[in-house]
Amino acid sequence: MSSLTGIKACVFDAYGTLFDFGSAVARCADIPEQKRAALIGLWRDKQIQYTLLRSMQDRYADFEQVTADALDFALESTGLADLGRRRALMDLYRTVSAYPDVKPMLEALKRQGLVTAILSNGTPSMLAAAIDHAGIGAQLDHVLSVDQLGVFKPSGRVYQYVVDRLGIAREAICFVSSNGWDAYAAAAFGFQVAWCNRSGQPPERLPGQPSLILSDLAQLPDRIDCR
Ligand code: LAC
Repeated sequence: MSSLTGIKACVFDAYGTLFDFGSAVARCADIPEQKRAALIGLWRDKQIQYTLLRSMQDRYADFEQVTADALDFALESTGLADLGRRRALMDLYRTVSAYPDVKPMLEALKRQGLVTAILSNGTPSMLAAAIDHAGIGAQLDHVLSVDQLGVFKPSGRVYQYVVDRLGIAREAICFVSSNGWDAYAAAAFGFQVAWCNRSGQPPERLPGQPSLILSDLAQLPDRIDCR
């Protein structure tokens, strides 16, 4: 079983990796069962698409705005547009659930003496709410948001921000994401990458190659070697 060597810090993507994006829709009683999967998929796809398009156009709007815009599109597309439902879903998004493997994994990494951090498109306020809800604040040394930079992942400026803020060389950083595009871009940047491929996606056809592919985060601490 291969492991990543010379690691000093583990840096995590937030939504889809630590936090279950779909839990906002799952907890909204108002969404008919047969429309849930479509709404989750469309909301997420549009959210990511809007971050990419806004970055390309140099027209940044924060992730809360992008998430609300994507939700409006997804609700209208699925015939579910309604102001009360929109408000409820945006509130639920602030307290998305952490995956059950997250807290024990972070505790294990801290016991191994590693620096831990989040690097997310999310705003500081959204991230603070989700971290607080999950009760994982004590296990995270840094919470880094792209909001400081005014551009979204996978801009190289975003990954460089981690190196600058942590003062740790890129090759000593293990970057962990469930989003294939984020994992591949971070690997191309020069991080050692663990792709947490929770949904069994095929490999991306993009520059970069994750060093590890995991099906969940419980396996991560055993695959990190600090030497
Ligand atoms: C994030 C999104 C991309 O947390 O999942 O940055």
